[in-house]
Amino acid sequence: MKNDILQALQTVSPVQLEEHMLERPAQSKLGDFALPCFPFAKVLRKSPVAIAEEIASSVKHPLIRKAEAVNGYVNLFVNRESIAIALLQTILEQSTTYGSSNEGNGGVVTIDLSSPNIAKPFSMGHLRSTVIGNSIALLLEKNGYQPVKINYIGDWGTQFGKLLTAYRKWGNEEEVRNAPIETLLKLYIQFHEEAELDPTLDDEGRAAFKALEDGNSDALALWEWFKTESLKEFQRIYDLLGVGFDSYNGEAYYNDKMDPVVEELEDKGLLVESDGAMVVDLEEDMPPCLIKKSDGATLYATRDLAAAIDRKNKYDFVKSIYVVGNEQSLHFTQVKQVLGKMGHEWEKTIVHVPFGLILQGGKKMSTRKGKIVLLEEVLKEAIDLAQKNIEEKNPTLGNQSEVAEAVGVGAILFSDLKQHRKHDIEFNLEAMLQVEGETGPYVQYANARAHSILRKAGDVSSFSVSEVNDHEWETIKLLEQFPHAVKRAAEELDPSIIAKYAVDLAQAFNSFYGNVQVLADHAQLPYRSALIRSVTIVLTESLRLLGMKALEEM
Ligand code: ARG
Repeated sequence: MKNDILQALQTVSPVQLEEHMLERPAQSKLGDFALPCFPFAKVLRKSPVAIAEEIASSVKHPLIRKAEAVNGYVNLFVNRESIAIALLQTILEQSTTYGSSNEGNGGVVTIDLSSPNIAKPFSMGHLRSTVIGNSIALLLEKNGYQPVKINYIGDWGTQFGKLLTAYRKWGNEEEVRNAPIETLLKLYIQFHEEAELDPTLDDEGRAAFKALEDGNSDALALWEWFKTESLKEFQRIYDLLGVGFDSYNGEAYYNDKMDPVVEELEDKGLLVESDGAMVVDLEEDMPPCLIKKSDGATLYATRDLAAAIDRKNKYDFVKSIYVVGNEQSLHFTQVKQVLGKMGHEWEKTIVHVPFGLILQGGKKMSTRKGKIVLLEEVLKEAIDLAQKNIEEKNPTLGNQSEVAEAVGVGAILFSDLKQHRKHDIEFNLEAMLQVEGETGPYVQYANARAHSILRKAGDVSSFSVSEVNDHEWETIKLLEQFPHAVKRAAEELDPSIIAKYAVDLAQAFNSFYGNVQVLADHAQLPYRSALIRSVTIVLTESLRLLGMKALEEM
């Protein structure tokens, strides 16, 4: 719509217009669009008031109902009815593809997300990475890219030497089977406590990791088992969240793919010795990147270098995204710089998408010692609370457990995604589950309400529009904005744009519905049904892009 108006203005404008010049006034009485003429005064040697009057009196277009010159502005009122008809027809016709684009031209974007560490609890940070990464994947897909979701499992590193040692000394198979992560975490903590008293344990741990790296079959079998058991636990969380992955190639996958990388670094003269370790020196203000320890063991960065190169070869990505917390920013800057020094121009297409912490009472929710917050329990608690709400407010509802799960999990997802990812977020389950305010349930509820009206209205196919009132118009303007929101969210890798958009649309719809007697006015019913159906299409698609379920009843 904006482009049509801009073109119409251009035909009568004495200067070249650009899209950003055309504003959308906050108050509807100032029109749907406004063109401030102040910037043109100098070149045209005329007052803004005169310029505005000239443009306003000569502009003509079927979409423009009225043009007014007010104090140097051209205020434009569009022809709501023609816009409404065209837009609603488009949305009903395109349905779930409304707002989709081919922008990405099928280019592959790898997304490194979730990536929990085996034998450790799935943390709040991993939740954020999973939820934000999944939404970014959906947004990119809607914009014509081909996302590849990679769960880079943390299944390698010296800590597994310690864990093997601890299990061999104090472990019990039965216990691990019953509660894998809890038991393995306990063993790991015990290892650290005992190692403080007996430092030779550390040597044993190091030797065990070396054995693992050298392919010792006993060590490998045990490690494999820890991994299988841990992944089973993670899978339960992914099932609840409704998230899947295209690859689970984690750190261990790169165990035999690092030698060529280290060789390449050597050949290119980038590897230098520092205190017995091998490092790559980086730009002045950056600490060197550690590639190999003095005992020959490789490091986190070494594995990420191998993984980045492998992904480039395998997927030929146009962009490679890493959804990992703020605290790893230095690591990703180092990895990118090393790749750059190796001559891999494509390091420029690597993007670290950082995010903040989840806080409780202003403090980091920690998974360390004693303070373990088991994510699965948090999700279950949210579902239970949602279930209680249903029992109180809508006891006759069918599919209660399905609805409770969609609402409970959705509440957590939404409260995470509605804020810009860089912000820390405060965790408050009760607040997240409120049906008022900017919450997931609020948006889901607006959508369910819209469905209930449609059920009562019955089937209506063709419609015409005789008049669009102010409430309807606010909703229509937002519906028209959806494709722009989708495009911007994908460009900025920012799901919060969609979350905020969904709240705005839900609010506009609620106030329309609260002020207009939809079912009583038979003449307008077909048009209003089309409007409401369009709202459900766009709300449902917005929720889907956030990884949430829309419900027809709740
Ligand atoms: N497993 C790591 C952690 O829990 C996150 C891995 C992030 N991805 C990567 N390619 N380094 O901290």
